[in-house]
Amino acid sequence: MTTLLHIDSSVLPGEASSSRSVADAFRKAWEEQHPEGRVIHRDLAADPVPHITAAAWSAGFTDPSERTPEQAAAFGERVRLMEELERADAVLIGAPMHNYSIPSTLKAWLDNVFLLGRTAGEAPSAQGTPVVVVASRGGSYAPGTPREGFEFVQNYLEVVLQGALGLDVEFIVPELTMAPSNPAMSELIPLYEVSRERAFRDATAKAKALAERLAA
Ligand SMILES: Cc1cc2nc3c(=O)[nH]c(=O)nc-3n(C[C@H](O)[C@H](O)[C@H](O)COP(=O)(O)O)c2cc1C
Repeated sequence: MTTLLHIDSSVLPGEASSSRSVADAFRKAWEEQHPEGRVIHRDLAADPVPHITAAAWSAGFTDPSERTPEQAAAFGERVRLMEELERADAVLIGAPMHNYSIPSTLKAWLDNVFLLGRTAGEAPSAQGTPVVVVASRGGSYAPGTPREGFEFVQNYLEVVLQGALGLDVEFIVPELTMAPSNPAMSELIPLYEVSRERAFRDATAKAKALAERLAA
């Protein structure tokens, strides 16, 4: 049985959110390929994980027999999140751009699952797991655009997910999502529409390609 870990972090509900909508298209195509499969859905906006604390962090480097009750309790939640990642056959992450970077709820999840010597380091425990990130953004930060240097979503997630956790990361980037609601961006609506259509197409195609890859 294949397991997809699906993480959303948009503050917007349902179809109002580009990342949720595109991730849903991926998930539907995935479920068609894996009717017997399991999807674990974490909605970090509705149900945020705790910010990392001194106890939760230091517990990761303390022998279990020497942990304080506070460290043991805090670490228990981290282990639950790490195991979810480690047991997943594939991961789907909605990562909208918030002030040039990822939502703080997604950062909190990363701070919990990132543990040197386990999920990160020389032999990361989830190494090679495919991850599709839906990186929605109101503007465009594509190469050659004026704000190219302000992009800290893909750049950051590539370093953390691929570089440190050893995951196999691909991005889908619905961009210019603010064009329909921001009069100053009205000329960009056709580009927004192209980007949106491509994102939905990519989501379906990547879900199918991944299913084939995992079945091989
Ligand atoms: C708190 C917040 C900060 C944002 N900051 C940016 C930003 O820096 N750059 C940008 O292009 N869009 C920004 N936006 C717009 C979102 O990236 C855009 O609405 C995108 O579609 C969000 O994905 P979602 O629709 O899945 O929520 C911001 C939105 C919010 C709520």
